[in-house]
Amino acid sequence: MGRALVIGAGGVASVVVHKCCQNPEVFEEILIASRTVEKCEALKRKLDGGKTKIKTAKVDADDTNQVIELIKGFNPDVVINVALPYQDLSIMDACLATGVHYLDTANYEPPDVPKFEYKWQWAYRDKYEKAGITGLLGCGFDPGVTGVFCAYAQKHYFDEIHTIDILDANAGDHGYPFATNFNPEINIREITAKGRYFKEGEWVETEPLEIKKTYDFPEIGPKNIYLLYHEELESLAINIKGVKKIRFWMTFSDNYLNHLRVLQNVGMTSIEPIEFEGKMIQPIQFLKAVLPDPASLGPRTKGKTNIGCIIQGAKDGKPRTYYVYNVCDHQECYREVGSQAISYTTGVPAMIGAMLIIKGIWQKPGVYNVEEFDPDPFMEALNKYGLPWKESFDPVLLD
Ligand SMILES: NC(=O)c1ccc[n+]([C@@H]2O[C@H](COP(=O)([O-])OP(=O)(O)OC[C@H]3O[C@@H](n4cnc5c(N)ncnc54)[C@H](OP(=O)(O)O)[C@@H]3O)[C@@H](O)[C@H]2O)c1
Repeated sequence: MGRALVIGAGGVASVVVHKCCQNPEVFEEILIASRTVEKCEALKRKLDGGKTKIKTAKVDADDTNQVIELIKGFNPDVVINVALPYQDLSIMDACLATGVHYLDTANYEPPDVPKFEYKWQWAYRDKYEKAGITGLLGCGFDPGVTGVFCAYAQKHYFDEIHTIDILDANAGDHGYPFATNFNPEINIREITAKGRYFKEGEWVETEPLEIKKTYDFPEIGPKNIYLLYHEELESLAINIKGVKKIRFWMTFSDNYLNHLRVLQNVGMTSIEPIEFEGKMIQPIQFLKAVLPDPASLGPRTKGKTNIGCIIQGAKDGKPRTYYVYNVCDHQECYREVGSQAISYTTGVPAMIGAMLIIKGIWQKPGVYNVEEFDPDPFMEALNKYGLPWKESFDPVLLD
């Protein structure tokens, strides 16, 4: 039925490729292209021989012309961008130049300013609409499934949504004193930024990790959660009509935060370039080089993740509360695709989004966030492709 160009060959890309190969009726052929072509070839060696044909290529996705050449040579239906957020715009430009649909899992960030904002990518709306192509933004788990959960709640259970709390818990243990579950640079930039949430039409800013609570998660138990800014808050505040408050919470262990604090205090998480042995380096990039590769955590990580949304509002004039979440087991993910749950929970939705685009179910000229599409086919596919969800109408609430 279709062809996908997967850009990137890291933890998330590996899951995307595994999942595309499990779905060969849709993904007849894929091209895995990344900066380090050996990683693409290693993925091909693992998965070759099935029904999905796999090709590999080397590309520097910061260079739009290289991506254009790649697209012209392979002629995909969709480009799945699972490289880094820094490449979003150059890849979007290449899709525009060639008339190919685009999907990513993280919003554009300029490399030298740690700022998550959709404005750079939303600026492509008219151009994509005129070109008749779909740009699907933030189609991982969070952002991604969390937006689909909200759209599903809005469609089926609420007349009005008043508050959304997105809760992201990782109770996995990899046994290292300190490691990040996905790209360390992106991860640390996210956590060390100021917190922010949406309340009554305004953005309220907090110091990094200033607001802490404890939540007793289904199947995981009580965990400390911290309020963070997360990119889906920006689009949900616009797309979930009438919402009054949206917050995002993530779990961190005391051990993780102690290590992070020390690294921050000594300047290792800084993105300010410094001169080292005659060369300019960003300390955070050096840190990334010495930390365990997130892709290597798979075999060691035990435990589960629980990511979901607690939504409060009204239906038929009566107050209603709804909690929808997915629980994912690190070891089960590893057994299935050779990756831990963080990569798995991101890669599966990216494959589902690409599948819905190829099938024409989620095609709409323009640039959109996931909650702007019909959630039903996506929710059905989550159950089918490894991320089943559960719901409760009587959850414990956050105050
Ligand atoms: N929405 C969600 O739920 C969610 C959750 C987790 C992660 N994410 C996002 O998923 C993406 C991938 O994360 P990951 O953990 O897989 O990261 P990763 O393991 O660091 O992999 C990134 C891949 O991109 C490649 N790359 C980097 N710069 C490139 C360039 N200029 N041209 C071509 N390829 C390039 C890297 O190549 P090298 O091998 O040469 O370094 C690597 O293969 C990130 O954008 C992350 O923010 C989203």
